[in-house]
Amino acid sequence: MVDMRNDRAIAKPAILFLCLGNICRSPLAEGAARAAFASAGIDATLDSAGTGDWHIGHAPDRRAQAEARRRGADISGLRARQLSPGDFYRFDLILAADEANLRDALAIRPGDATADLRLMLDLIPGRGGEGVIDPYYGKDAGFAATWDDVDAVAAALVAEFSPPSE
Ligand code: 4NP
Repeated sequence: MVDMRNDRAIAKPAILFLCLGNICRSPLAEGAARAAFASAGIDATLDSAGTGDWHIGHAPDRRAQAEARRRGADISGLRARQLSPGDFYRFDLILAADEANLRDALAIRPGDATADLRLMLDLIPGRGGEGVIDPYYGKDAGFAATWDDVDAVAAALVAEFSPPSE
């Protein structure tokens, strides 16, 4: 099991989901995580960002909003923003959707960053090193697959950050 807490006891975990545009994968990941943490009763700071700047201020892609709604999550109020160096101090864990996002994040990571940076699917046994496929240029069905992936990531996070049972 990967130690996502970096040997620090985290009372309220702060987790940032990262993709390219912050309008498809990472807002879906944030939506899935918000639902999973709320239903587990765990307090967490959850946010998402993109490495690119094209969609700053935009709501999630309509197809992402529709898929989230279909799964019981409302992500319509989220607005895209770009990853900044300060995020590497504000968050305990930054989870990138794919290798390109990971590389771009590493390029702006301050030398004394406190956040752990890894791929989202590294949290899923057997899927380490895999990227969450970008659904932006594909068919609507791709968004269902994205939700399945990020929902599994959300469940793994909840398991990791659940208080130890007595
Ligand atoms: P995301 O998808 O990284 O999952 O938000 C994309 C959204 C927009 C673009 C690429 C990927 N784009 O090139 O505009």
